[in-house]
Amino acid sequence: MIAADIRLETGRLLLRPPRIEDFDGYAELLADVEAARFIGGDAPRAGAWRRFLQQPGAWFVQGFGMFSVLDRATGEWLGQTGPWRPEGWPGNEIGWAFRRAAWGQGYATEATRAAIDWALDNLGWDEFVHCIAPDNLASQRLAKRLGSTCLREQNLPAPFEAHRVGVWGQSRAHWRARRA
Ligand SMILES: CC(C)(COP(=O)(O)OP(=O)(O)OC[C@H]1O[C@@H](n2cnc3c(N)ncnc32)[C@H](O)[C@@H]1OP(=O)(O)O)[C@@H](O)C(=O)NCCC(=O)NCCS
Repeated sequence: MIAADIRLETGRLLLRPPRIEDFDGYAELLADVEAARFIGGDAPRAGAWRRFLQQPGAWFVQGFGMFSVLDRATGEWLGQTGPWRPEGWPGNEIGWAFRRAAWGQGYATEATRAAIDWALDNLGWDEFVHCIAPDNLASQRLAKRLGSTCLREQNLPAPFEAHRVGVWGQSRAHWRARRA
């Protein structure tokens, strides 16, 4: 199946690889200083554009990347979640970032469960991680809801080496046992 045809549906959400029409939502996310703080910092639209292209680029050359998450009822772009494996990264990441308007409604948990199921079914991963800053408490709560624990602390690879993160995660077997 080609990436453009991949669609996952949950009770409230649609997940699919990014499309050009998702950019306005992504630019709003990166313009929000607080929301963008732990995903590389805020950026104006022209800077957001270059970062937006990372995920479709990953889908194109690696065959996977983060999904865009949309409200099934309205089509609104809520955020992104899913597999992400940059060079030198501490592990097979399941990452996430949602617009502030989408926080506090369980969307990130609902979407990320579906994205993890897809990643484990399709990528052959035996484990997955989430790299989370020590003061990103909302992200740590999400990791815990998913059943992940903090495995170790580690610096990210250069040029991000100043960032020391908690490497949260779990094994495929642990995920599957909790889902059963
Ligand atoms: C990390 C992030 C996705 C977490 O978002 P979130 O809204 O807290 O997580 P969820 O969407 O799963 O929502 C869970 C919250 O909604 C509440 N909620 C309300 N209605 C709900 C429902 N119908 N179902 C489930 N939860 C619901 C839960 O009680 C929970 O609140 P709590 O954390 O105060 O207990 C969000 O803070 C974010 O995008 N941050 C900016 C980007 C970022 O830092 N990314 C991570 C880098 S490591």
